[in-house]
Amino acid sequence: MPAVFTEIEDLRRLHQARVPRMFYDYVDVGAWTGQTYAENRADFRDIRFRQRVARDISTRSLSTTMMDQPVSMPVALAPVGLLGMQHPDGEIHAARAARARGVPYTMSTMSMASLEDIAEATGAPFWFQLYTLRDEDFLDDILDRARRAGVSVLVLTLDLTIQGQRHKDLKNRMTAPPRLTLPNLIDIALHPRWAFGMLRTRRRSFGNIVGHARGVDSLGDLMDWTSRQFDPRLDWARVEDIVRRWGGKVILKGINDPEDARRALDTGADSLLVSNHGGRQLDGAASTIRALPSILRAVDGRMPVYLDGGIQSGQEALKAIARGAAGVFIGRAYTYGLGAMGQKGVETAIDIIRREMDLTMALCGINDIRDVGPDMLWSDDLA
Ligand code: GLV
Repeated sequence: MPAVFTEIEDLRRLHQARVPRMFYDYVDVGAWTGQTYAENRADFRDIRFRQRVARDISTRSLSTTMMDQPVSMPVALAPVGLLGMQHPDGEIHAARAARARGVPYTMSTMSMASLEDIAEATGAPFWFQLYTLRDEDFLDDILDRARRAGVSVLVLTLDLTIQGQRHKDLKNRMTAPPRLTLPNLIDIALHPRWAFGMLRTRRRSFGNIVGHARGVDSLGDLMDWTSRQFDPRLDWARVEDIVRRWGGKVILKGINDPEDARRALDTGADSLLVSNHGGRQLDGAASTIRALPSILRAVDGRMPVYLDGGIQSGQEALKAIARGAAGVFIGRAYTYGLGAMGQKGVETAIDIIRREMDLTMALCGINDIRDVGPDMLWSDDLA
């Protein structure tokens, strides 16, 4: 373990060492060839900052708002499934870290903890990601539970009604909780810290589903239920229906095309999240930073547009914001921290990204995150 964590990569390495391979692999993977997964990150490299000097950079601030909520910086924790398999009670650790650092936490539907666990652990409003599922009773019930738990923003995922293929998950035969086959037992035995931690928590199955969806009491029921629930019939009328049923703030997640963005403007949702599911769904899709400008043109200022995908440093976050995103979501970056060191690791990941944003803004001669815009970026027209 390094004496100082200076970059997200340090956390990734520790995560890989401490967590059974099937769960580490679940995070560090894209669909099929991994092209979109890689380009989400690589395409940021084509964007350059402008180095500016002598601009009094002594009063810097990253504070702003996301979805009308004050945030210490415009970086939210994205929904990530199975966090409770990366670290015992992982969702609770992530939610507490987000609270401590003043950024939003988005709980995934596919969490080990339940909505009620997060409400109890943090006592603060949080955001909740929902899949568009077929079971109408379950949908009404989970929206009610989210309201009671104090969820302030619903993040509705549109790009996973059918799951993309990730080779590693199939080869590892990944399930949560893991089946106790010989290879899995070996994987677990090689990670005793993780195994003992898992024995001490009761949260080893999907807390938002087991005991809430009709007929789901065991692992077998659950797998069967989830595979039947994702709803490939999803269309814009159904999106509008869910937005209406929720009645509160909604971010539509999984928009990666200007025509979809234009259509999304009339759904009653408040905001869009440009996302290709971290390159885990359509391999070969455009990276989100490449898709962003066309989506911003389509939206034309009518709602805030957020972005996720490939953000593993404060510099990438700033590049997205300079290109016009209202803020960003990080997924793997904080999950590596969680797998490495629980709440402390998530806080470390947030702190690393904050320091990188602050220092980059300073060296670009900008004091206030709200002043970050296209003129922070190098353009060959300047040359
Ligand atoms: C689920 O959202 C996944 O990407 O595995």
